[in-house]
Amino acid sequence: MTEVDIKKGLAGVVVDVTAISKVNPETNSLLYRGYPVQELAATQPFEAVAHLLWTGNLPTAAELAELRATERQHRALSPEVKAAIDILPTTAHPMDEVRTAVSVIGALDATGDVMDAAGTPEENQERAIRLWAQLPAIVAYGQRRRRGEELIAPRDDLDYSANFLWMTFGEEQHEIVVDAFNRSMTLYAEHSFNASTFTSRVIASTLSDLYSAVTGAIGALKGPLHGGANEAVLHIFDAIGSAENVTPWLDEALGAKRKIMGFGHRVYKRGDSRVPTMKAALDTLVTHYDRPEVAALYDALESEFVARKGIYPNLDYPSGPAYNLMGFDTLTFTPLFVAARVTGWTAHIMEQLASNALIRPLSEYVGPAERHIDGYVATDAELEAASREAEAE
Ligand code: CMC
Repeated sequence: MTEVDIKKGLAGVVVDVTAISKVNPETNSLLYRGYPVQELAATQPFEAVAHLLWTGNLPTAAELAELRATERQHRALSPEVKAAIDILPTTAHPMDEVRTAVSVIGALDATGDVMDAAGTPEENQERAIRLWAQLPAIVAYGQRRRRGEELIAPRDDLDYSANFLWMTFGEEQHEIVVDAFNRSMTLYAEHSFNASTFTSRVIASTLSDLYSAVTGAIGALKGPLHGGANEAVLHIFDAIGSAENVTPWLDEALGAKRKIMGFGHRVYKRGDSRVPTMKAALDTLVTHYDRPEVAALYDALESEFVARKGIYPNLDYPSGPAYNLMGFDTLTFTPLFVAARVTGWTAHIMEQLASNALIRPLSEYVGPAERHIDGYVATDAELEAASREAEAE
């Protein structure tokens, strides 16, 4: 067999250029269109970050007002999408619900002609805004129906983040909570060629449509090695209970060679650039809700795991307990990631289409060498005899 340099998991492989974001593990930084993500999280509403990712520039006041007006027009859950969600069992994972809802939106917006599926840049920008505007209603309604609660209509007087919380909880939230939520949306919005974004680019590269690309990306994000980790972090917090149980819990988990969710990253090896900003937001929530035991458990697990393994927390580590304090159910955490990341995915889909090449890598075959059937094909009589035998057993 010829020696082929296999890059398992595409680790270290640069597959294309992008102008959307830059992850620099050496300097522990993440730039969206050149701006440090922590600056954006501290100063910008999520709507402005979405505009930046799509267009390359922060919006002017007029552009922000226009985007906000469009977002408000498309916020309400459409009756068709609600009906599609309502036929799903409440035992379905909310990521399956969100994936199905996006797929339904795509089918409702389809041209019916596969040759037009990829759409023009203008059509895709409009689709991206409409999809982004619909996702809070889908996520909020998902949590509410699992709790046996009714859908809440959006509020036109609230910005994206405040309205998202309103539609979920039916109460206006304190500005500290809205600010922490807004920051989390910005931090989750984009992260270069991660698994779900790459999935969306692979699908877009076939000249399929934006909705199919986002639907596929949601499937990739669901996995616990990717977006599903924020949900898994809360299960870990629940299992440990309190700070004094960290050592015996870690002894057992590491002894059983289990991965500790919320730690480690394919690109960052000395810490995730988004963690300090999200941890600061978590601290404001801990003070606001007066829940010091959450911070104590967070700090104890982080310091002991880093000391023992030298593996640092990723964004899912602070965002899991932050969403829990805000009142989100654990199952809703990854759908929140979808609501944020749809901005990055759609920016990448549009970038892929602007300079497309079908993504189609090679593989090294390691199966049986060429062989032949020896002319044997089962006759109908033999098949019938075999099924009678199977039925008799
Ligand atoms: N707990 C325990 N050991 C770990 C962890 C962890 N969280 N992460 C990495 N390791 C160990 C791993 O067992 C392996 O050890 P060894 O070399 O002895 O077999 C070594 O570190 C390298 O791990 P890897 O999984 O081969 O490295 P990777 O670059 O493929 O991993 C990762 C990246 C994110 C898949 C991994 O760190 C992981 O599974 N973390 C837990 C899941 C998680 O938190 N995912 C969210 C990622 S960030 C947000 C996002 O992108 O969605």
